[in-house]
This record gives sequence, C-alpha cells and structure tokens, in this order.
Amino acid sequence: MPAQFGTYQSEIYLQGLAGVVPPFTTDATALEAAARELLEPGPFGYVAGGAGSGATVRANREAFDRWRIVPRMLADATDRDLRTTVLGTELAAPVLLAPIGVQSIVHPEGELATASAAADLGVPMVLSTASSYSIEEVAEASGDGERWYQLYWPNDDDVTVSILERAERGGYTALVVTLDTWTLAWRPQDLDQSYLPFIRGVGTAIPFSDPAFRALLAQSPEEDRNSAVLRWVQMFTGVDKSWDRLAFLREHWDGPIALKGILHPDDARLAVDAGMDGIVVSNHGGRQVDGAVAALDALPAIAEAVGDRVDVLFDSGVRTGADVIKAISLGAKAVLLGRPWVYGLAHGGKEGVRHVLRGVLADLDLTLGLSGNRSLADLGRHTLMEITK
Ligand SMILES: Cc1cc2nc3c(=O)[nH]c(=O)nc-3n(C[C@H](O)[C@H](O)[C@H](O)COP(=O)(O)O)c2cc1C
Repeated sequence: MPAQFGTYQSEIYLQGLAGVVPPFTTDATALEAAARELLEPGPFGYVAGGAGSGATVRANREAFDRWRIVPRMLADATDRDLRTTVLGTELAAPVLLAPIGVQSIVHPEGELATASAAADLGVPMVLSTASSYSIEEVAEASGDGERWYQLYWPNDDDVTVSILERAERGGYTALVVTLDTWTLAWRPQDLDQSYLPFIRGVGTAIPFSDPAFRALLAQSPEEDRNSAVLRWVQMFTGVDKSWDRLAFLREHWDGPIALKGILHPDDARLAVDAGMDGIVVSNHGGRQVDGAVAALDALPAIAEAVGDRVDVLFDSGVRTGADVIKAISLGAKAVLLGRPWVYGLAHGGKEGVRHVLRGVLADLDLTLGLSGNRSLADLGRHTLMEITK
C-alpha cells in the first residue's frame, strides 16, 4: 500500500478544532527566518550561510522559480503512489535526508533525533562523516530505518577502510562520496564570527571513535583534544583526489556508491565510466563555489548525458513539494532535503524534524495530485513550463 502523506493536512485541521496549531510554521520557505530567532549567531550562520557573496545560494532558489508546473485536470489522480527505488533502496517517496554534519550545534540530540524521526517516517537518512555522534550510535537510533553513509574521504587509506567497515557493519547500505568539499570554501558568515564547529571538537565523533584514527595519535582525543582535532582536520581537508582513486573505494565497499557534487555532464560520464551506481547533482547548497551554476540548471543536461546508466539524485534548494516535482520532472530519481529539516531540528528535536518532513511529503503528495499526476512516472519535461523573461 502506498503511503498517504497528504493526510497530514487533515490531521492539522482536525487538531485545530481542539485549539491545537502546528508547533511551528508549515511554510518550508519561512523556516530560515524562524530559526534565526532561535539559534545563536554562530550555529545559525553555519547552517544558513553560503560561500562568498551567497550568489549560488540565491541562484538555487531562483532556478526553481523559473520553472512552473502546468496542472492537468480530470486526470483521476485521487489515489497516488510516490514510491520509487534508488540505489537498491525502496523509498516510500522520492525524498531522503541530505548528509548534514555537526547537528548538535542546533540541538543536543542532533543526529540521534534526526535518525529516529527519519526511521519513523520511512525516509532514509544519509549520515555525514562530520556527525556529532558515532556511526554505531546513529545506527542504533535508526533502528530498522534505512540508512546510507556519506564519506568525506580521509587522506589516509587505513582510516578510510576502517570507517567504511564500520558503516557496513552498522547497516548502512549505500555510500555517498562527497567530492566538492575536499577543502572548505571562503564562507564569510563563519569567518566573521571565527566559527568553525570542527576545531571546537564538534562533528568529530566518527574519527574520535575510530580505532585506525586513534592508533595514529600520541595521546587519545580524551587526553589531548586539540591535537586530535588538528590531526583530523588535516586528514579530511586540504588534499584533492583524482578519478583513478575511485577503484579503491569500490574495492572496500560492497554496496552501491554515488558521487555527490556533480555539476558537469562530463563528470557525470566519468562517474559512469568509473563504474559508479549513482550521482548527486549538487552544489552543496551554495556553500562551496560562490558563483557556481544552480544545481537545478545543471540537472537536465546531466540527466540526459547519463540516461539510466546511473541513478541521478538531486539537492540544493529543495524546499517544497513543488520543488521535488520540478527536480523529478527535470531528470532526478529522488531528492535530498537539506536545510529545512535542520531548522526543524533546531525548533523541536525529533518532533521538529518530523513536522518538517511530514509537511514536505504532504505538500508533495497533494501538489502531485492537484497537478494531475498519480505517480512519479507521470512526470517529465512536459510537466513544466520554463519562464525565460
Ligand atoms: C549545515 C550544513 C551542513 C552540511 N554538512 C554536509 C556534510 O557533512 N556532508 C555533505 O556531503 N554535505 C553537507 N551539507 C550539504 C548538504 O548535504 C546538501 O548538499 C545541501 O544542504 C543542499 O542545499 P539546501 O540545504 O539549500 O537544499 C551540509 C549542508 C548544511 C546546510
């Protein structure tokens, strides 16, 4: 039975009869402004901020605004099915949680709360290497929930292998390798506050609990945190890699692998040639290359270049159900949702993540039906009109 996500709407209205209103806004585009009131300037700037002038953060949203859905009527769209399968994982809807690091800067339960909310709703979570909790702790919080692992690829093969083995043991089924953050971009909102969670020892739970990493240290992270932090920062930033190195990951990871941060059709083709299973078209939410092309503008040519040889995922700027429909119509199989649920986490831990996710899924379900579509297979370029002026 396909899930009926749209029922969250009637649930909210019925609760209103008892004087209960939603815990915070149901407008996913208003969450950032609401979170600004809640969070300290450092964590808020870290989540909301982008690289340089913020041009790519803005471009991501502008690109969505240029595409408009053209609804069809009398399409018998009462019953809808949002299911799909991506990288071997069956999804109730084409939505996963993007890998987001250092979640404890917005809520003490961080990734544990997120994992639990995602598992309850059957939405897979992609755990970041920059997690505030260990691979094993988040796996436990996920229970039976589907989980993928995102690798920030360390410059040390033993540590890489150790982390991959831990992820496999922890039940993470697919690997997402993020390529666009081999070093941090120039991020004025963080620089102006001298705020970087990692050098404060936040977001280092995975290396600090890793036997191969600990074996490299003269003193444990518990005894000498600063030296451990420094070692890790040098190990996961500062060195770019090359396409021939992907064979190493293939050798040490049994499941499907997707490359995250692809924006050029030629890189998408190289991913296919390297035997990858998927790509994530993404500009990291405008946090890396200021002035980079909007991810949605890059999507159609990339989807065309790879066809069905790899699964195409998408992120950067997805806020609403309509945005999900637009990304799928332009060639994505599923999207990763980023900042909106992080703001939900800030508002109310697990319940906050749940509220945001249920909202986006309900909006997606209703908008899909109201535009005359019953399943994702109905969507395509014909679903949209591009506004060029
Ligand atoms: C606070 C924050 C932390 C992030 N941490 C990671 C990370 O650890 N690994 C990763 O691959 N991407 C990370 N990303 C990028 C997201 O996975 C995703 O690409 C981005 O959030 C999409 O943009 P959007 O949130 O504007 O939709 C992070 C993004 C934010 C906002």
